[in-house]
Amino acid sequence: MTKLVIAIDGPAAAGKGTLARKLAEAFGLPHLDTGLTYRATAKALLDAGKPLDDEAVAADMAARIDLAGLDRNILSAHQIGEAASKIAAMPSVRRSLVEAQRRFADNGDGAVLDGRDIGTVVCPDAAVKLYVTADAQVRARRRYDEIIARGEAADFSAILADVQRRDERDMGRKDSPLRPADDAHLLDTSKMGIEAAFQAAIAYIHARLDRN
Ligand code: DC
Repeated sequence: MTKLVIAIDGPAAAGKGTLARKLAEAFGLPHLDTGLTYRATAKALLDAGKPLDDEAVAADMAARIDLAGLDRNILSAHQIGEAASKIAAMPSVRRSLVEAQRRFADNGDGAVLDGRDIGTVVCPDAAVKLYVTADAQVRARRRYDEIIARGEAADFSAILADVQRRDERDMGRKDSPLRPADDAHLLDTSKMGIEAAFQAAIAYIHARLDRN
């Protein structure tokens, strides 16, 4: 089998993580949620009581992240996401994490990676690139529903403002801003459940691989 790298990018809460996990399972490939590498770096800084605006300190932490030890449950806190989005704007942090992400992608028969810059920077030669998006209102509603389902209190307008702020930061930074690669297939999940998005992705991937 030739190497199959599937690159999935998109804004927060567009459904790319769930889609990436399902595609990895369907194709029997390892999966890396690259957002966790930024979150783990941010958590290490917060835990050590280090400042979030010192690029050299943050880059040093990034160089020590172990991809095998990443756990979304431990890294999901809102405060960690906010801190991650700040350090993700630092070029030397990105350089270090991108190197580890490329090693993951280069190993074995292929991999599924999801994030913000996979198709544009981390794996520009990926056989398949998907850009998964949805309206900010829809993404905020999904976040809100998740929190309510856990039995916690949630404020929709605060969540929407948060989603929009995160988008601005991810799309507006100078180094590797979030944007679709020129050859990415766009998947708008605003009006699609996860199963429909998965079926659409599978159909696209098969068509794309048959063409090559
Ligand atoms: O997807 P997430 O919320 O776990 O990502 C956390 C932060 O890391 C987010 O603000 C964007 C950033 N990130 C990035 O800059 N590049 C990636 N490949 C993945 C995440």
